[in-house]
Amino acid sequence: MDIWFYYDVTHSGHVYYNPVSKSGVRELETVLELDAGRNVLDIACGMGEMLVGFAERRGIRGAGVDISPHALRRAREKKEARVPGADLTFLEMDGKDYRPGPGETFDVAMCIGASWIWGGFEGTLRALRSFARPGGLVVCGEPFFRKEPPPEYLEAEGFDRDTFFTLPENLAIAERLGLGLVWFRGSPEEEWDRYEMLQVVAVDRFRRENPDHPDLPEILKRHEPAPRNYLRWGRDCLGFALWVFRTPETFRTPTKHR
Ligand SMILES: C[S@@+](CC[C@H](N)C(=O)[O-])C[C@H]1O[C@@H](n2cnc3c(N)ncnc32)[C@H](O)[C@@H]1O
Repeated sequence: MDIWFYYDVTHSGHVYYNPVSKSGVRELETVLELDAGRNVLDIACGMGEMLVGFAERRGIRGAGVDISPHALRRAREKKEARVPGADLTFLEMDGKDYRPGPGETFDVAMCIGASWIWGGFEGTLRALRSFARPGGLVVCGEPFFRKEPPPEYLEAEGFDRDTFFTLPENLAIAERLGLGLVWFRGSPEEEWDRYEMLQVVAVDRFRRENPDHPDLPEILKRHEPAPRNYLRWGRDCLGFALWVFRTPETFRTPTKHR
């Protein structure tokens, strides 16, 4: 099965592919002080709702990068339907291979919920820092451990203890990189519940509407433990946060990520 098709099915009812509400995103865009013409990069942009929404409400321009052809088809359709004249580009590629054009920097560089691209939170902040202009903003959406995760939970999810961190650990990582905290928002529990349960609803609908689909058995098998793991451990152990950091004024974009 095409793994991106699996995510397209399980996230077919989501507005954002993350446990963040529309009101959380409105708070974020206020903090980012997005004015017309600001240049925003969104790596792992999913179906582009953040960029399209920012362009619609704030007049930003920018680029979205995602590896999933399904997500990007939705992003491009959304852009054409809602902000056809906006200067927004969507690129289908692995985010780790993305490099800005010569001389191009971004007022805001973000990655919401895909830090595995650069091997975790620190690598993600390093990459985003290199894409943002000096004095610009880095936005990272990242899960965090609310409490010590039990080994059974780590095993069930395929996480290591250092796949994610606690909030103070996340902040210390950012500060070590010279990033200054501008804002933080932990998603309320109801946003996690909605994010997880919309997947349950989506799989149930897909099963009823596509009983003969060749990928159905694999989709059901893959999704089957997810709600159980969430209710047993994930809901208590894991949170999700949006972080906004400012890059140092003197920081110069390196040609390679270290
Ligand atoms: C949890 S979703 C977040 C999407 C979006 N940021 C949002 O909040 O709606 C993760 C996204 O990462 C994309 N993705 C996964 N691996 C990637 C990679 N190596 N490079 C670029 N995108 C990737 C997936 O296709 C998916 O759209």
